[in-house]
Amino acid sequence: MQTPFFLGPRLYFRPLEREDAPRLAAFVNHPDVRRNLLVHRPMNTAQEVAFVDTLTASPKDVMLAIVLRDGDRMIGTSGLHDLDFRSRRATFGMLIGEPSEWRKGYGTEATRMTLEYGFGTLNLERVQLEVLEHNTAGIRAYEKAGFQREGVLRRHHYVDGAYVDTWVMGILRSEWKPAPA
Ligand SMILES: CC(C)(COP(=O)(O)OP(=O)(O)OC[C@H]1O[C@@H](n2cnc3c(N)ncnc32)[C@H](O)[C@@H]1OP(=O)(O)O)[C@@H](O)C(=O)NCCC(=O)NCCS
Repeated sequence: MQTPFFLGPRLYFRPLEREDAPRLAAFVNHPDVRRNLLVHRPMNTAQEVAFVDTLTASPKDVMLAIVLRDGDRMIGTSGLHDLDFRSRRATFGMLIGEPSEWRKGYGTEATRMTLEYGFGTLNLERVQLEVLEHNTAGIRAYEKAGFQREGVLRRHHYVDGAYVDTWVMGILRSEWKPAPA
């Protein structure tokens, strides 16, 4: 493992590096990935380097690489954003950037790990997210980790030729079930 920061059963989180930029560009430009992330302009490696630098310097963001323990390969990113240390809340965002790695439980594991970090390390009170209504895999992963639907932003985004509703989901510290030791 390279610079492991947070360990899960099959995954680990490590800091994002500038050297990850080409891989990040491959992730976010992939048509099947970007349609759920609302990326509508091509992103090149230089933009991803700037993205890594900006997030690393920001006190309101924590962005982590999701890496397979077996094989030590980065397959995505997980982040807590808009960190508000007075109200103790953050907004969660995640991607598994290789569609060949979908449906293996990694999205659910990364969500649980991020909550463990957010509640257990950062002492947050609430974590929230927004997800497109058609993102069945995302919604399912979030529900399995304990998120609840809190509301709907109607016709909030225009995706692939149609307006799409967006779910707002959230989990409170009192609802979070830490992984057994
Ligand atoms: C959303 C995402 C993180 C899910 O990751 P994943 O590793 O495939 O998720 P999991 O394997 O943990 O699956 C979670 C649940 O969704 C289900 N699921 C996965 N893909 C599905 C699909 N295409 N249709 C229906 N259910 C699906 C799984 O079966 C699982 O439920 P189960 O345990 O009850 O069977 C991944 O698809 C992704 O990164 N997509 C592109 C970017 C994105 O959407 N990010 C989130 C933006 S809010």
